[in-house]
Amino acid sequence: MTSLAQQLPPGRFGLPVLGESIAYLRDPAGFIAGRQQQYGNLFKTRLFGRPTLVLIGAEAVRFLFAHEGQHFEMTNTRNFEVLLGKNSIGVVTGGAHQLLRKQLFQAFQPRSLAQYVVTMTTITQRYLQKWERLEEFTWYPELKQYTLEIAYKLLVGVDTAEDESLKDLYETWSQGLLTIPIRFPGSPFDRAVRSRQQLLDRFDALIEQRQHQTVAPHDVLDILLEARDEAGAPFSCAAIKDNILGLLIAGHETLTSALTSFCLLLAQHPDVLQTARAEQEELGLPSVLTQEHLKQMTYLEQVLKEVLRLAPPVVRSGQRRVLETCEFGGYTIPQGWDVFYQISETHQDADVYTQPDRFDPQRFAPDRAEDKPPFSHIAFGGGMRECLGREFARLEIKLFAALLIRDYDWVLFARAGLDARRAALLTTAGWTEGQVSATAGGMIVSS
Ligand code: HEM
Repeated sequence: MTSLAQQLPPGRFGLPVLGESIAYLRDPAGFIAGRQQQYGNLFKTRLFGRPTLVLIGAEAVRFLFAHEGQHFEMTNTRNFEVLLGKNSIGVVTGGAHQLLRKQLFQAFQPRSLAQYVVTMTTITQRYLQKWERLEEFTWYPELKQYTLEIAYKLLVGVDTAEDESLKDLYETWSQGLLTIPIRFPGSPFDRAVRSRQQLLDRFDALIEQRQHQTVAPHDVLDILLEARDEAGAPFSCAAIKDNILGLLIAGHETLTSALTSFCLLLAQHPDVLQTARAEQEELGLPSVLTQEHLKQMTYLEQVLKEVLRLAPPVVRSGQRRVLETCEFGGYTIPQGWDVFYQISETHQDADVYTQPDRFDPQRFAPDRAEDKPPFSHIAFGGGMRECLGREFARLEIKLFAALLIRDYDWVLFARAGLDARRAALLTTAGWTEGQVSATAGGMIVSS
């Protein structure tokens, strides 16, 4: 008889080579939900030619985080390797990753964040006034422009309102991350590789300019140019450029999704909006907000946590490779397999969250604190690969949310038959812009 520890996890590999890739690609959320129902929180499958283990739930996620770098290591598709670049934090592994993380973190320290608030506020106010003038618009594409503008300004000091070409280059480059990585003249991947080079050339020119500037703008590029490692060595130019690109995508797409879900869920839950607005009135803060002011908004904090629980912008983690055979939950996890953890399903655990389908910010009030079990709320991942931009993201979301609810009302042009969770998930699951737009159409009027 085989001992439990020698058993592979439940699940099925499907067809030779192809495995279950087609079913997965057709409906990733449905695929995961179906397998979870059948096999539980740990199951095997074969995706894109590789045996793969899917992990769901706080316990399984804790196991992965605790053994990151030992049993598991980040791995990437060819698209990501080529388009992010070999120096990118999303690609680098082992000791080099830890060192790079430390260096990049200098751009996300509290001191740096305090400086970013001013730029975030200026751009947010400008967009709020624009939306007020427009009266009718679609949240998703507007928020995409807004977050990209903030990202470019804070990363490299460039104003995309005055330089549209950077937006176009970004679009072509980022679309390449999800295409087939085959290069022939004019193929989407080829266009993405060319756009990457053009973006790097633009960053080169900006770095060159900085050598001659006496007063540099306080942005991430500036901080990285000044950064030194423990031995006093500066960052290489190639590493700075790869990582600026990486931060651009890591930050901008996720924030767009989070803000769209916020607008969607609050329009669908006027009681929550009312309570959040009452908190603003009670606090009676000045029109220019600081980080200290934002910290006082405890109910808004609960709302944002709930938005990120119910509609996490990153639905599943990046891929990990098993470095050495290990055991979890009585099963063997063989060396060489791929592994990923599911964020959205972990957030739906009925043993942790009461009525997990419901949008209920009160679940995070001090007397309930439903996310107490470690790793039950993992919108920003955890462990050695936890989101580096977490505090930057929390700051931008909260500032946007506070400024919006203080002075504006908005309604959605509802599409029949679409409930809040489904609509919110559409914005997070990589659906096309058209589909998302249709659900998140909105009108804004000054209150
Ligand atoms: C709501 C917004 C955001 C969410 C939900 C989010 C979520 C995540 C998650 C889940 C991971 C870990 C993925 C994994 O384990 O495979 C991650 C990693 C990362 N995020 Fe974010 N993120 C957000 C915003 C940002 C922002 C604004 C930045 C930077 C400007 C950023 C930079 C990064 C970086 C650099 C990593 C890789 C860290 C590493 O590998 O060491 N993120 N993010």
